[in-house]
Amino acid sequence: MDLFEYQARDVFESYGVPVLAGIIADNPEDVRAAAEKLGGTVVVKAQVKVGGRGKAGGVKVAHNAADAEEASRAIFGLDIKGHVVKRVMVAAGARIKQEFYFSVLLDRANRSFLSLASYEGGVEIEILAVERPEALAKVEVDPIAGIDLAKATEIATAAGFPAELIPQIAPVIVKLYEVFVGEDATLVEVNPLVLTEDGDIVALDGKVTLDENAEFRHPNHEALVDTGAEDPLEAKAKKANLNYVKLDGEVGIIGNGAGLVMSTLDVVSYAGERHGGVRPANFLDIGGGASAEVMAAGLDVILGDPQVKSVFVNVFGGITACDAVANGIVGALATLGAAATKPLVVRLDGNNVVEGRQILSDAGHPLVTVVDTMDEAADKAAELANA
Ligand SMILES: Nc1ncnc2c1ncn2[C@@H]1O[C@H](COP(=O)(O)OP(=O)(O)OP(=O)(O)O)[C@@H](O)[C@H]1O
Ligand SMILES: [Mg+2]
Repeated sequence: MDLFEYQARDVFESYGVPVLAGIIADNPEDVRAAAEKLGGTVVVKAQVKVGGRGKAGGVKVAHNAADAEEASRAIFGLDIKGHVVKRVMVAAGARIKQEFYFSVLLDRANRSFLSLASYEGGVEIEILAVERPEALAKVEVDPIAGIDLAKATEIATAAGFPAELIPQIAPVIVKLYEVFVGEDATLVEVNPLVLTEDGDIVALDGKVTLDENAEFRHPNHEALVDTGAEDPLEAKAKKANLNYVKLDGEVGIIGNGAGLVMSTLDVVSYAGERHGGVRPANFLDIGGGASAEVMAAGLDVILGDPQVKSVFVNVFGGITACDAVANGIVGALATLGAAATKPLVVRLDGNNVVEGRQILSDAGHPLVTVVDTMDEAADKAAELANA
């Protein structure tokens, strides 16, 4: 999970990383109040989970509260690479002398941590990495040893910081590493880390990605979830522990195994071209153990999508055999009762397929059509969605 800048700022502050005051605001009037409270020069910053906000006009300096309000009017509603700005942070303005770059991240390929740092900030790091790779230090960080003052000094030196700045920058690097480990992050990035005219080191921007696998260790991370941006169906699926992604079409999809579901999306898209251009409504992988409960939970989510006109259940029986899946479908339809209103096309194959099809035909549910092959089933589901 990526954090918003203001959330990263709060986390940084709680670990003692030097940051400036910041107040979030959801409308121009609140921006004015926040700017008045902070006093002096402020920076109004779009809170979107994407980089390049500055270039897109999402970061504006204002010298008084009225200007801040005015500036925010141009930022609210701005579309930054597909992210529409609904919230801004009004940050105290820094008098910047120099900008630097620092990040620490999980280096999956090397099964290690990696720190990137540069004395030459103020440019996009991707550009720096390509154009002047020698200016970007890459220092491996042993996850057991971590970053202590000595290691932080090594990183800062490699990044080209002059000797007189190192005693100031190294403790900040240590603290940022404490954030990284303490919060189970996979990325902590500060761009820019600055030296102010007053001689202070301050983290002016923060990008933090938290490792969702470590959620259980951090009950407080739940409060950081951006529920407003979450699709309600995806939220419901997440609660039921389902691997669901909402898409834009009309044919609901349930399958077992991510690969099978991906190819099901393809064949349905293809079949849809013959049936009024209908498309898959979602990705849903119910995994290996397709019990009645999981099937019911999956169907419940898909049928709750008002765009869905038909559902394609595509299951390849393996360890969980087709008869168990068929019982799952029958049980799910019984559980859902009147809530099941849309036609279901079921394609079963694999282990115990004969028994599975028999169970479905014995149940004789009026909404269920059993089709033998994946292509034919996709075609049928697309046809029903277009009816
Ligand atoms: N509180 C602040 N005071 C003064 N200047 C700031 C402040 N916050 C940001 N800036 C300036 O705005 C620039 C862009 O801000 P920031 O890095 O937070 O946004 P960004 O999304 O990373 O944008 P970009 O990708 O364009 O750098 C910074 O490099 C810095 O020069
Ligand atoms: Mg930045």
